[in-house]
Amino acid sequence: MTPAQRKLIVVSNRGPVSFGRDAHGARVARRGGGGLVTALRSLVSSHEVTWIASAMTDGDHEVVAEARGNAVEERARDGSPYRLRLIAHDEAAYDWYYNVIANPTLWFLQHYLWSLSRVPDFDHGLHHAWSSGYVTVNESFADAVVTELDAEPDAIVFFHDYHLYLAPRLVRERRPDATLAHFVHTPWAQSDYWHVLPAAMRAAVHDGMLANDVIGFHTDRWRRNFVHAAEQIVGAVPDPEARVVGYEGRSILVGANPISVDPEEFEELAGSDAVRAREREILARHDGRIVLRVDRTDPSKNVVRGFSAFEVFLDAHPELHGEVTMLALLDPSRQDIPEYSEYLGAIQRAAREVNDRFQGDGWMPIDLQIDDDFPQSVAAYKQFDVLLVNAIFDGMNLVAKEAPLVNERAGVLVLSENTGAHDELGEWALSVNPFDVAGQADAIYAALMLPEEERRRRQDAIRSHVQEHDLLHWIGAQLHDLEQAAAHAR
Ligand code: F6P
Repeated sequence: MTPAQRKLIVVSNRGPVSFGRDAHGARVARRGGGGLVTALRSLVSSHEVTWIASAMTDGDHEVVAEARGNAVEERARDGSPYRLRLIAHDEAAYDWYYNVIANPTLWFLQHYLWSLSRVPDFDHGLHHAWSSGYVTVNESFADAVVTELDAEPDAIVFFHDYHLYLAPRLVRERRPDATLAHFVHTPWAQSDYWHVLPAAMRAAVHDGMLANDVIGFHTDRWRRNFVHAAEQIVGAVPDPEARVVGYEGRSILVGANPISVDPEEFEELAGSDAVRAREREILARHDGRIVLRVDRTDPSKNVVRGFSAFEVFLDAHPELHGEVTMLALLDPSRQDIPEYSEYLGAIQRAAREVNDRFQGDGWMPIDLQIDDDFPQSVAAYKQFDVLLVNAIFDGMNLVAKEAPLVNERAGVLVLSENTGAHDELGEWALSVNPFDVAGQADAIYAALMLPEEERRRRQDAIRSHVQEHDLLHWIGAQLHDLEQAAAHAR
C-alpha cells in the first residue's frame, strides 16, 4: 500500500457495476449508471476499497447467492482490484425504499419537484414504506458496514446520497469510534421545504446525517441549506463560519467539495472504436449544427421546458430551420415509479409536437433517442455546437464537465443557474434560469451566434478548470476532511 492509500468502505445504493449475461450466456459486468458511480469508480484505482451496494439485477442476485452474501473480488476498468459486497434486500422492502421513499419522496424534496397544492399526500402507505422499506434497507446497509468494520476496524466508512440517510446513525450506535463520512450528491433543500416531510421523518434524516464525522456537499449553497435545516429541525449548533456543527456532544465537519471527472478516462473513451462508430452515425444523420442534451429522464432535468425553449427558438428564427437540430440523448430512468414513466411520456409528446410543427425536407428538429448508450453520449459530446443543461435543480451535473473536455467544435455551454456546476463554470457558460423558457431560447440563439474565438476561449477555460479540479482533486479534498475528523476523534 502506498502512503496515500486508505482503507475505504464505500457505501452507495447503486454499485460500480451490475451483472448480467451476454448473448452466449456468459456473465458480464456492466457499468452502473448516474453521476455518482461515474465519479466514484476512480476511487478504487487509488485506494483499498470495499464497496457495499444493493443487488439490483437478477445477475447481481446470482452473484450474492454464489458468494453466500460475502464480498467478491472485482477489478476496475484499469485492472485495480477492489472488493464488492452486494446486499440482496427483501424485494418488497427494497421496492418501498427505492420506489416510494428514496426517489419520489426524498429526491423530489431535494430538487423542489412538488407542486404543493396538489402533491404530496403522505398516506398510511408512505408511512409504511418508510418504516418497512427505508428503515429496513438502511438497517441492512448498517449490518453490512458493521461486518466489514469488524474485519477492518480502522477503515473509513464513506456513505453516499439520499438512499442512506439513516445508516450512519445505526452504525454509530454499534461502533461509536468508527470514522463515518457522507457525501450528498444532490442539492440540500431549504429548511421550510423539509417541513413538507412529517416531523419524525425529517428529524430522522437530519439526525442520521449528524451521526457522521464529515458531511460533504458539492457547493456552499447546499452546505448552508443543510446547516440551517439541521439547526432548525434537530437543534444542531453551527460555529460562526458554519463549517463545524455541534450535535449531541460531537463536532461534525460540514464541507463543500465539488465532485469532478477523470479527464484521462474521457480522452481515452473519445478515441475508442465504440465511440468513433457512434460518432459516424451521428454525423451521417446531422450535417448541420447540433444543440445537445444528455440526461436521465428525470423530472429534475427539465427536458420538457428545454424542448419548449427550442420551439420558441425555432419560431423566432425561421432562417435556421433545417440547419440546427436538437439531439436529445436520454437514459430511461426509474421507470417503475409512476412520476418517472409519466415524465417520459411527457418528453415524448413534447418532442413530437415540435417535430410535427416544424419538420420538413428530411429535417427533424428534435432527434430524441431514449436509450442507455454511453458511447453514443461521448460521441455526441465530441460533436455539439451548443450543450443545453437546464436542470431545475441539480447537485452538480457532470455532463457539464464531461462534454467540454472532448468537444471538437468549440461548443458553448448553456447552463442552469441552479446546478452545482454553475458555481464553478458559470463565468464561461451562458447562464439560464431553468423556468425562463424565453431566456433559454435566447441563450440557444446567442450561443450559436458567438464568434469562433469567443467560443474557443470559453471552452478552453472550462477544460483547464476541469483538468485542474479533477476527480483526484476532489478525492484529495474529501480525504483531507476525513483525516482531520479522524485525528480529531483520536
Ligand atoms: O448521482 C445521483 C444519482 O441519484 C445517484 O445516487 C444514482 O445512483 C444515480 O443518480 C442514478 O440513479 P439510479 O441509481 O436511481 O438509477
